[in-house]
Amino acid sequence: MDQTEFIYGGDYNAEQWLDSPDILKQDIEYMKAAHINEVTLGVFSWSTLEPQEGVYHFAWLENLINELYANGISVILSTPSAARPKWLADQYPEVLRVNADRSRNLFGGRHNHCYTSPVYRRKISQIDRKLSERFGKHPAVTTWHISNELSGECHCSYCQAAFQEWLEKKYQTIENLNKAWNTIFWSHDYQNFAQVESPSPKGEMMLHALNLDWKRFVTDQTADFVAWEKKAIREGGSTLPVTINMMYDFTGLNYRKFKDLIDFVSWDNYPVWHKEEEKKTALDTAFQHDFMRSILKKPFLLMESCPTATNWQSVSKLKRPGMLRAASLQAIAHGSDSVQYFQIRQSRGASEKFHGAVIDHYGGMDTRVFREVTEVGSDLLKIKEIVGSDTKAKVAILHDCESRWAMEDAQGPRNKGLHYMDTVMKMYAALRKQGLNVDILDMEDELTDYEIVFAPMLYMFRCGIEEKIREYVKNGGTLVMTYWSGIVNETDLCHLGGTPHQLMDVLGLRSMELDALYDQESNYGIATDEYWAEKKQYECRNFCDLICTDTAETLLMYEKDFYAGYPAFVRNQYGNGKTYYICADFEQDFYDDLCRELVKEKQLNEFVYGLPDGIEVTTRETDTHRYLFVQNFGREAIRMELPDTTYSVLLGGWNDLIEPYDTKVLVKKLIGE
Ligand code: GLA
Ligand code: ZN
Repeated sequence: MDQTEFIYGGDYNAEQWLDSPDILKQDIEYMKAAHINEVTLGVFSWSTLEPQEGVYHFAWLENLINELYANGISVILSTPSAARPKWLADQYPEVLRVNADRSRNLFGGRHNHCYTSPVYRRKISQIDRKLSERFGKHPAVTTWHISNELSGECHCSYCQAAFQEWLEKKYQTIENLNKAWNTIFWSHDYQNFAQVESPSPKGEMMLHALNLDWKRFVTDQTADFVAWEKKAIREGGSTLPVTINMMYDFTGLNYRKFKDLIDFVSWDNYPVWHKEEEKKTALDTAFQHDFMRSILKKPFLLMESCPTATNWQSVSKLKRPGMLRAASLQAIAHGSDSVQYFQIRQSRGASEKFHGAVIDHYGGMDTRVFREVTEVGSDLLKIKEIVGSDTKAKVAILHDCESRWAMEDAQGPRNKGLHYMDTVMKMYAALRKQGLNVDILDMEDELTDYEIVFAPMLYMFRCGIEEKIREYVKNGGTLVMTYWSGIVNETDLCHLGGTPHQLMDVLGLRSMELDALYDQESNYGIATDEYWAEKKQYECRNFCDLICTDTAETLLMYEKDFYAGYPAFVRNQYGNGKTYYICADFEQDFYDDLCRELVKEKQLNEFVYGLPDGIEVTTRETDTHRYLFVQNFGREAIRMELPDTTYSVLLGGWNDLIEPYDTKVLVKKLIGE
């Protein structure tokens, strides 16, 4: 998209106000006052756009778009597929979703449709094409937003047939499938593809490879549905970019599989602010932004966020003054080119009537929320030169959706909790404390751009990651891997001959056994003479991998149990690179010390080793400038010197004191120095 300003706006469900033209008119004035330059229209608008089958009412939308355009407000136009009109469900019951227990849903809710149903596909294609014909070249319309927060699965007969076809394409013969899934166990082998059914609580749930392939199929089928909608848009003549809005830590779909379909990523961010310390929530949110940005490795859009409290979290806490600005600028810091809200105007009725909005039921501009929204709009204008800039990261975390699916589904060493995301977040937190940008990769990505790659609990090795890692380390990369890595192949068959699969020589060790700990248990990693940090012992919980080393040197060893004295953390040299293998689920301090050491060794940080608690530093850059965001998500003001005197201040002033929730944006020229 060719943007010169940050996109600032959000979902405007204007169809609820068509009988109140004064309100619509007034809203546009309010938008302008708040510096809003975009609205997203059409999400869930199907019944207003097509009140009867084949009868299209687009005039209201056209008038609105014209009016917005006349006032300098652009439009992201959504296709209406995420909720369907009653007539459609009544006329064609096949469009309603079938659950895993094989019961068909009644009409209602949203995301309640079959992605495979030929009728659903035909109907959505018709309306999408018409929307594209009518609005695809309108100067106000910049982007297509396909459907909304795609999610869920359908187990109807169309979906079963499509799944069987998908399997046949993948495995060619049923013998191949039986072997890949190890179906002979419990006599579950199939004689032909038509016998295979999707996982069900009434039937097969324990064949992990079936579950895994079903999840892959659901992703592919959903992506196919998006491709179908995109095709209709193109047939209607529009060449505008398309996106889908993704969700927080959503594992129902492998979002990476959408990367060739969309022009940019967008996502909806609803952190539960003020429940725990804001700095924790901020870290969690930062990770999600980085995950989203890393999918296409370019700026994304923050498609939705809430101006104040949502109405669906267990407690609808108001955002404290300043939180909206901090959260909005955090998105920008991590690579967003927009700040958008759900919603511009609050509904009067139905399920989201108490959800926070830019314009609430009172309907005036003299509200705290409106004032804060206006301030954010004004700040975005002040830093608009940042639009389109990149994020450069020298460190990355491998966080693979398919491996996570398999690991979390397997009956394994710790069915009461693997603490996978906790482990990922400990690494992420340690890197962020060093002020580093972090990319979040999956196994299909290249590793070559990074100085250090972290691979926490990489249970499944797929798509040749063994070879990629070997080459990466051989050529000088640093790999940090943990217990429970390289255990299974792509269809969840355990690797024979020792793990981590095909990396034992690279890591200089073999994992022999994995001990799981009860919640109340812990052990310690005790420093050997080779270990560098001041702290000499680290508590570990949940998992203790018992390894035998070959070439690796021991840096920490277990303190107790029958494996006292066994290695708990080791380092190995391979080719020009190094590997570290973490045997146990260590406390945060361990990761902090490790990352500080690695970052120093690789000289990755130009200005600061270790940031004050609560402070986040993030950078974006163009060919000519680097932008440094310094944000305080702590509850205390923090004294901090300008990290580097070659930076000047773009937003927020700098007096060495950063108040809670405050953000400073600094800029430095990169050329001509
Ligand atoms: C999601 C949806 C929106 C709205 C918000 C409420 O993000 O996409 O339509 O329901 O949640 O927070
Ligand atoms: Zn279906």
